[in-house]
Amino acid sequence: MGREEEIKVSFEPSGRSVYVLPGTILLEAAARAGHVIETPCGGAGKCGKCTVRITAGQSDPTDAERAVLTERRLADGYRLACQSRVASPLTVEIPETSLFQSAQKILVRGPDDRLEVEPAARKLLLEMDPPAQGSGCSDVERLRQALGPVTLDLPVIRRLPQVLREGAFKVTATVVDNTVVDIAPGDTRGTCCGLAFDVGTTTLVGTLIDLADGVDLAVASAINPQTAFGDDVLARIKTCREEPDGLERLHSAVLEAVNAIAGEVARSAGVERHSICEAVFAGNTTMQQILCGIHPLALGEIPFIPAFRELLRTRASELGLDIHPGAAVSVLPQIGGFVGGDTVAGIVATRLDGFREPALLVDVGTNGEIVLAHGGRLAATSVAAGPAFEGARIVSGMRATSGAIEKVVVDGDIRLNVIGNARPAGICGTGLIDAVANLLALGVLDPTGRIRGPGEPDASLPAPIAERVVGHDGQYAFVLARAEESATGEPVRLYQRDIRELQLANAAIRAGIAVLLDAAGLEARDLGCVLLAGAFGNFIRRSSAVRVGMLPPIERHRIRFVGNTASFGAKRVLLSVNERDYASRVGRATRHVDLSLDPAFQSRFGECMAFPPP
Ligand code: FES
Repeated sequence: MGREEEIKVSFEPSGRSVYVLPGTILLEAAARAGHVIETPCGGAGKCGKCTVRITAGQSDPTDAERAVLTERRLADGYRLACQSRVASPLTVEIPETSLFQSAQKILVRGPDDRLEVEPAARKLLLEMDPPAQGSGCSDVERLRQALGPVTLDLPVIRRLPQVLREGAFKVTATVVDNTVVDIAPGDTRGTCCGLAFDVGTTTLVGTLIDLADGVDLAVASAINPQTAFGDDVLARIKTCREEPDGLERLHSAVLEAVNAIAGEVARSAGVERHSICEAVFAGNTTMQQILCGIHPLALGEIPFIPAFRELLRTRASELGLDIHPGAAVSVLPQIGGFVGGDTVAGIVATRLDGFREPALLVDVGTNGEIVLAHGGRLAATSVAAGPAFEGARIVSGMRATSGAIEKVVVDGDIRLNVIGNARPAGICGTGLIDAVANLLALGVLDPTGRIRGPGEPDASLPAPIAERVVGHDGQYAFVLARAEESATGEPVRLYQRDIRELQLANAAIRAGIAVLLDAAGLEARDLGCVLLAGAFGNFIRRSSAVRVGMLPPIERHRIRFVGNTASFGAKRVLLSVNERDYASRVGRATRHVDLSLDPAFQSRFGECMAFPPP
């Protein structure tokens, strides 16, 4: 089909345009123009987060659009990018709130900065005598005499005769463990780098590290492009199981993004991609398997079996990673079910098994991972907290990007902290927890999570706050920002169903914690500390997390933020062979607790739905 049969779609405010075939979904047209739009429901037309405004060339809304958008929004040209198809030339405005933002709050800090630097990859300068007349010694043997009992990759042996003679038998060997992966004439030691990757369900973070001293050279992050296939691991497993090329598409998407990050960090540090000699990946089981091109089918059915448990070692060229082709790649061990390498990295980063008192590591996200260390033993589980903490399934929910309410303070009225100091466009997970904690303290919410109406006994509220409780569909909603204060011209409200979503997410985490404690014969008060990991965990207000019941009732000072432990643990493994062995040991030693069919979890979950008493 020629260009004249394709249709032009222009995007504002970027000014970019693309030509697409009639019938193309707007989401795809936007992606071709380089705009990644939020799709928390995986394009099912349910969440309303992919809203765009068609300023020229509107067509009639679909049923899904009528169900999600108000009449006024439809009349103003708003449509869902996942539902609208291109039928005529269009000009489309993408609101900032519908875009995945690179300005997400990303954490790369770890729990401490002490690192052992003894990497598996190193560059060595070798000076050898040229072969003497009558010497029967081969080039490989000559190299082994200089290096010790190493093995050589075939591509290295292919180049060895020329390189040795070109460098007059003075060469630089790149060795990983005891394998020579590269050889170059002369002294090319320069920088030898490694990459530590946190492969999150939502976000990818890559850190380029100098393997000589452990110093971070550059960090870059990107949204995991697999979010276009759904925002939780189950949606992605479903894609792999149901679409013939599903795994291939998801694998290529993440690999492309990982390679883009590798290129970006190399550029910003001013080093060649080829000087990256090792990489370590940490992610949950689904993310790690898809990255490796391993089908996650057995993770999509009971009893949720991962394809591997041991630390996986391969080469960059095998994986399709665009760094030195012989670079060693480690994918961290998997514990079981959905508990994967990011949890192992968390244990490595925090030394959780060494705590004298019982300690919990909690990584709060769409998939919440919880590890209990007690008496030198480790038990880990995962719970499906759902995407509420990421702002999805919340009517005014959004990710922690510019315009998101991240903190709510009460002082006679409501005051809001908004990321980027912008007008509020919605609320992110930390803001939601804060808002609900405050509404509980004010008595706007009862312990079951119901929003109380004006005049109900406990709602003796200051007038400016009482006025924020408004009727909606026979229930009540709470106005956090009025229409005239918001970025969108629409009020930012918390609805009854938003509170329920938070209760579900909280209950999953809290019940997971309770089952691990019960099995160990412990109570919350026995815990020496709770370590909160992950980007989300590090922005939560501790008192609010306890007030809404997400964390057990322990003193605030015992709750510690430990940063992005997936990145930091991966970095430790990259920098030290001993840490790599330690990761393998804790991976094997940690007992996986499967909660999927556990009646104790179900009953705890029911109990944890109610908010705890103050
Ligand atoms: S409504 Fe379009 S992605 Fe959810």
